[in-house]
Amino acid sequence: MNVLGIETSCDETAVAIYDSKHHQVAHLVHSQIPLHAKYGGVVPELASRDHIQRITPLLKELLGQTSEKIDAVAYTAGPGLIGALLVGATFARSLAYAWQVPSIAVHHMEGHLLAPLLEYPNLPFPFLALLVSGGHTLLVDVQDFGDYRLLGESIDDAAGEALDKTAKLLGLGYPGGAILSKLAEQGKPNRFHFPRPLTDRPGLDFSFSGLKTAVLHTTQTFEKIDEQTRADIAHAFIDAVVDTLVIKCTRALKQMNYKNLVIAGGVSANSQLREKLTSLMAQMNGKLWLARPEFCTDNAAMIAYAGYQRLQRDLANKDLGIQVKARWSLLEL
Ligand code: KG4
Ligand code: ZN
Repeated sequence: MNVLGIETSCDETAVAIYDSKHHQVAHLVHSQIPLHAKYGGVVPELASRDHIQRITPLLKELLGQTSEKIDAVAYTAGPGLIGALLVGATFARSLAYAWQVPSIAVHHMEGHLLAPLLEYPNLPFPFLALLVSGGHTLLVDVQDFGDYRLLGESIDDAAGEALDKTAKLLGLGYPGGAILSKLAEQGKPNRFHFPRPLTDRPGLDFSFSGLKTAVLHTTQTFEKIDEQTRADIAHAFIDAVVDTLVIKCTRALKQMNYKNLVIAGGVSANSQLREKLTSLMAQMNGKLWLARPEFCTDNAAMIAYAGYQRLQRDLANKDLGIQVKARWSLLEL
């Protein structure tokens, strides 16, 4: 079976075809970074308009790579920017109607959650998943496809959001997470120290907004910040975010008595996080399951794959209406 995936929830236009027989995926991503960079963040109206312009040529290019028939169309129905979601949803529904194939509404975070299975189709359930993206930080008990229990989440900023806001504060541009992480590699350890929020009390929730304020206060102690100081601050900040995530993962793994940890979402592309969690799982005699970096950030391969899994289990919403949701809890699935 060949499932076309369409992702337009934020600032990437992405299309993919998942071929279930060979467990292979072909995918294309058009990034809007140059479009939004000069504004220092995503401008929703510009994002929607760009999705409209890009989606048809991008799909034509992808379909040009295959002679196979498309059997279903999966699209991101939320959460995300409403105008951007509407472009992908309308496009996907229309294609499915024209081709007379099912269309499947996919939750963006379920897409992220399942992305490591593109690499490891035999990844054993149940497992703990840490989902870290620009909009969400979630610790999820994953019993099976579509069977999720929330163990913890951020009570304020998501990890990616904190990275992006701190990068902006340090004058690093957009999107900040990857730039900040790169700069941190040049930083000297132990010159600055930031707190590990909510780790001194029980529970699995996160809070990252205070960290950004701590960075602001540190920058205010300098009249002018030189490059090395900026890198040292970035280093301490990434250390604090990564340590906090590692502490909460350790706690959740022990609580659930799980040996398998999946991390997914844009921040899971971060090399420091990948390294620290790899050694944590080695210490715990468990295993860390990761998607390749291009499937950590937004892509349509994960949407096609999640759509395929939903269709297999009769979990697909076959309603012909176009329903998109800017806010949508994973637990409603
Ligand atoms: O999953 P994603 O691509 O989009 C959302 O669903 O939000 O995640 C985007 C987030 C942004 O905050 C971005 O700064 C962060 O992921 N990010 C990274 C890296 N690449 C993307 N953060 C740290 N290190 C990276 N290499
Ligand atoms: Zn995402």
